[in-house]
Amino acid sequence: MRALYLLVSLALCSASTSKRGIVRVQGSLDNLYINFGTCPEYTNVLEDYREAMNNFTVETFKEVASHGTYQYVMSPLSMWMTIAGMAEGADYITQHQLFDLLHLPRDPCVRHKYYQLAASRYSLTNDAAVISNRVLVIDEGVTPNPVWHNFVAGNSLLDVLTAPIKYNPIGAASKIRQIVYANFPRLDLHGNSVLVDTIDYNGLWHTAFTDAVVKRAPFYSLSGKNIGAVDLMTVRRHGRIGYVPLIKSKVLELPIGKDKKYSLVIALLVGNHDLHPIISELKSSIIPTVLGSLRETKVPIDVALPQFTLNSELDAKTILEGLGITKLWTDPQATRYISTPPALPSSYVQRATLTLNKDGVHLPPIAELRSYRPPFSPEESFFSEFIADRPFMFALYDTETYTCLMASVYTEPTYPY
Ligand SMILES: *[C@@H]1O[C@H](CO)[C@@H](O)[C@H](O)[C@H]1NC(C)=O
Repeated sequence: MRALYLLVSLALCSASTSKRGIVRVQGSLDNLYINFGTCPEYTNVLEDYREAMNNFTVETFKEVASHGTYQYVMSPLSMWMTIAGMAEGADYITQHQLFDLLHLPRDPCVRHKYYQLAASRYSLTNDAAVISNRVLVIDEGVTPNPVWHNFVAGNSLLDVLTAPIKYNPIGAASKIRQIVYANFPRLDLHGNSVLVDTIDYNGLWHTAFTDAVVKRAPFYSLSGKNIGAVDLMTVRRHGRIGYVPLIKSKVLELPIGKDKKYSLVIALLVGNHDLHPIISELKSSIIPTVLGSLRETKVPIDVALPQFTLNSELDAKTILEGLGITKLWTDPQATRYISTPPALPSSYVQRATLTLNKDGVHLPPIAELRSYRPPFSPEESFFSEFIADRPFMFALYDTETYTCLMASVYTEPTYPY
């Protein structure tokens, strides 16, 4: 059995030449022959980029929930970049369908700006590590189109790896699982390729929770029934907090990392409401609405969050099919610019792993917060605590652009009864 090997480094070596080679061909691959040096200086695409990402985040988050999944974590950003990589090599019809799904503009110069913004959201520093891998794994008999390959690798959208999918599918599957650290029970290798993407946020929440007091505590369903126990981390923090009637939730934003590179936004349902109708009614405007509702409080907030690790393996192909993307997997016309023969991915799986706990690697000093408190008005007391001992939704954003890196629903206690 042959080992997987990386084509990316080869591709990167020739990337600079191909970007300049303005050879026009028929079809939508024309887009890739743009020499970005000739793009006009756009003053600001950030607002439009953010709206595109927000819309895509809400649409995919709802689609995942609509499959009856009660607890999950997913990465809208990784999925967006993976599909963008495929879209750049798709035929005209499929490409426009994918651009619509991703809310990508037709102007390749603007798309290039979006890709730069998207790819720079990840981070590998001591205090905040968010790592994502996005790979099209193709059979050894499939040759990627070098122009497309250079483009997607050069823009950090997608890597291309080869594996003996046809010749040794069992070996290929085990290699893929090793590379992405996933079980992927639904990995289907009947086609000539598969798409995989992964995202990890690994336990470096120390700036947020290192001083937390951890106590085993009951966890309740939304109807108030005690359904199990969790290890609740309790801290007192300054943060931004609000109430959003549309989702009947109290919302808290906690900065993560030394320089507040990321932020965790948690929506805790208040009152006896079912989560699923709330999610299925979500509109694209919910993200700006939630963020706009947040206010600094005068007093520190008593925050209690469960410690947990969430690990989801999402059948992203089914999610995309639910959003109307059907040709990418079966129609050789759709992917003929990506490779020869056309890559027809029989699976697209995303693994997302997020750990929220007290342990950290470095221990920065945390300012002692006064325990004295003036008497509260009812409103102040409502906003003076945030106790997540019942189902909640949360999202990890980068604070520069407010791109959603991970979105999650937490409903199941660590120790169910
Ligand atoms: C995002 O969704 C809103 C509401 O549906 C819509 O008005 C807006 O045009 C969308 N933006 C993009 C970039 O697709």
